[in-house]
Amino acid sequence: PTPVRYEAESAVRSTGSTVDSDHAGYSGTGFVNTPNAAGAHVEWTVNAPVAGSADLVIAYANGTTTNRPLDISVNGTTVVAAAPFAGTGAWTTWRTVTVPAAALTAGANTVRVTATSANGAPNLDYLDG
Ligand code: GCU
Repeated sequence: PTPVRYEAESAVRSTGSTVDSDHAGYSGTGFVNTPNAAGAHVEWTVNAPVAGSADLVIAYANGTTTNRPLDISVNGTTVVAAAPFAGTGAWTTWRTVTVPAAALTAGANTVRVTATSANGAPNLDYLDG
Protein backbone atom coordinates (compact mmCIF):
# COMPACT_ATOMS: atom_id res chain seq x y z
CA PRO A 1 0.00 0.00 0.00
CA THR A 2 0.99 3.63 -0.44
CA PRO A 3 2.85 4.83 2.66
CA VAL A 4 1.23 7.39 4.92
CA ARG A 5 3.26 10.12 6.61
CA TYR A 6 3.03 10.40 10.37
CA GLU A 7 4.68 13.56 11.65
CA ALA A 8 6.72 13.26 14.86
CA GLU A 9 5.09 16.44 16.17
CA SER A 10 1.78 14.54 16.15
CA ALA A 11 3.19 11.44 17.86
CA VAL A 12 3.34 10.57 21.55
CA ARG A 13 6.55 11.76 23.13
CA SER A 14 8.36 11.13 26.39
CA THR A 15 8.35 13.79 29.09
CA GLY A 16 10.54 16.77 28.39
CA SER A 17 10.42 16.41 24.62
CA THR A 18 9.70 19.59 22.70
CA VAL A 19 8.41 20.33 19.23
CA ASP A 20 10.96 22.66 17.67
CA SER A 21 11.24 24.41 14.32
CA ASP A 22 14.64 26.09 14.52
CA HIS A 23 16.43 23.80 12.05
CA ALA A 24 15.08 24.09 8.51
CA GLY A 25 14.26 21.29 6.13
CA TYR A 26 11.73 19.40 8.22
CA SER A 27 8.39 18.10 7.05
CA GLY A 28 5.17 19.40 8.59
CA THR A 29 5.26 22.08 11.26
CA GLY A 30 8.36 21.02 13.18
CA PHE A 31 10.27 18.12 14.62
CA VAL A 32 10.67 16.47 18.00
CA ASN A 33 13.69 17.20 20.17
CA THR A 34 13.82 14.67 22.99
CA PRO A 35 15.75 15.13 26.22
CA ASN A 36 19.37 14.05 25.99
CA ALA A 37 18.82 10.95 28.10
CA ALA A 38 18.58 7.20 27.63
CA GLY A 39 14.97 6.07 27.49
CA ALA A 40 13.73 9.18 25.69
CA HIS A 41 11.20 8.05 23.12
CA VAL A 42 8.65 8.87 20.46
CA GLU A 43 5.76 6.57 19.63
CA TRP A 44 3.78 6.71 16.43
CA THR A 45 0.51 4.93 15.75
CA VAL A 46 0.66 3.43 12.28
CA ASN A 47 -2.61 2.30 10.76
CA ALA A 48 -2.49 -0.66 8.42
CA PRO A 49 -5.58 -1.45 6.32
CA VAL A 50 -4.73 -5.15 6.37
CA ALA A 51 -2.14 -7.27 8.12
CA GLY A 52 1.14 -7.51 6.23
CA SER A 53 4.57 -6.05 5.99
CA ALA A 54 5.52 -2.45 5.40
CA ASP A 55 8.76 -0.53 5.17
CA LEU A 56 9.02 1.99 8.00
CA VAL A 57 11.00 5.09 7.02
CA ILE A 58 12.13 7.33 9.87
CA ALA A 59 13.46 10.81 9.10
CA TYR A 60 15.92 12.43 11.47
CA ALA A 61 18.78 14.88 11.84
CA ASN A 62 21.82 14.50 14.07
CA GLY A 63 24.11 17.50 13.94
CA THR A 64 26.73 15.87 16.13
CA THR A 65 29.46 13.44 15.16
CA THR A 66 28.27 10.87 17.69
CA ASN A 67 25.68 8.21 16.90
CA ARG A 68 22.31 8.58 18.62
CA PRO A 69 21.25 4.91 18.71
CA LEU A 70 17.58 4.03 18.92
CA ASP A 71 15.82 0.76 19.64
CA ILE A 72 12.90 0.44 17.24
CA SER A 73 9.91 -1.56 18.39
CA VAL A 74 6.65 -2.54 16.74
CA ASN A 75 3.73 -3.34 19.03
CA GLY A 76 6.13 -3.70 21.94
CA THR A 77 8.61 -6.05 20.28
CA THR A 78 12.05 -4.72 19.39
CA VAL A 79 12.63 -5.23 15.69
CA VAL A 80 15.93 -3.34 15.45
CA ALA A 81 18.18 -2.89 18.48
CA ALA A 82 20.32 0.24 18.68
CA ALA A 83 20.06 1.37 15.07
CA PRO A 84 22.92 3.90 14.90
CA PHE A 85 21.26 7.13 13.64
CA ALA A 86 24.68 8.47 12.77
CA GLY A 87 25.55 12.11 12.44
CA THR A 88 24.04 13.79 9.38
CA GLY A 89 26.56 16.64 9.26
CA ALA A 90 24.23 19.39 10.44
CA TRP A 91 20.96 19.79 12.33
CA THR A 92 19.48 21.05 9.06
CA THR A 93 20.50 17.92 7.16
CA TRP A 94 17.74 15.32 7.36
CA ARG A 95 18.20 11.66 6.43
CA THR A 96 16.13 8.53 6.68
CA VAL A 97 16.59 5.12 8.26
CA THR A 98 14.38 2.32 6.90
CA VAL A 99 13.15 -0.72 8.77
CA PRO A 100 12.38 -3.06 5.89
CA ALA A 101 9.31 -5.28 5.85
CA ALA A 102 8.10 -4.68 9.39
CA ALA A 103 5.18 -6.95 10.27
CA LEU A 104 2.02 -4.96 10.98
CA THR A 105 -1.36 -6.12 12.16
CA ALA A 106 -4.59 -4.81 10.67
CA GLY A 107 -5.54 -1.55 12.34
CA ALA A 108 -3.46 0.44 14.80
CA ASN A 109 0.18 -0.49 15.37
CA THR A 110 2.56 1.25 17.74
CA VAL A 111 6.04 2.03 16.49
CA ARG A 112 8.31 3.34 19.21
CA VAL A 113 11.89 4.57 18.98
CA THR A 114 13.80 4.69 22.26
CA ALA A 115 17.19 6.25 22.87
CA THR A 116 19.75 3.82 24.22
CA SER A 117 22.46 6.36 25.05
CA ALA A 118 22.70 9.36 27.34
CA ASN A 119 22.71 11.59 24.26
CA GLY A 120 19.03 10.81 23.69
CA ALA A 121 17.39 10.62 20.28
CA PRO A 122 18.37 12.57 17.22
CA ASN A 123 15.85 15.20 16.18
CA LEU A 124 12.94 13.25 14.70
CA ASP A 125 10.87 14.52 11.79
CA TYR A 126 8.45 11.85 10.61
CA LEU A 127 7.72 8.19 10.02
CA ASP A 128 6.44 7.01 6.63
CA GLY A 129 4.72 3.66 6.88
C1 GCU B 1 21.22 21.41 19.76
C2 GCU B 1 20.17 21.51 18.66
C3 GCU B 1 18.93 20.75 19.04
C4 GCU B 1 19.29 19.32 19.40
C5 GCU B 1 20.32 19.33 20.51
C6 GCU B 1 20.78 17.93 20.92
O1 GCU B 1 20.77 22.12 20.89
O2 GCU B 1 19.84 22.87 18.41
O3 GCU B 1 17.99 20.77 17.97
O4 GCU B 1 18.16 18.59 19.78
O5 GCU B 1 21.45 20.07 20.13
O6 GCU B 1 21.96 17.74 21.10
O7 GCU B 1 19.96 17.02 21.04
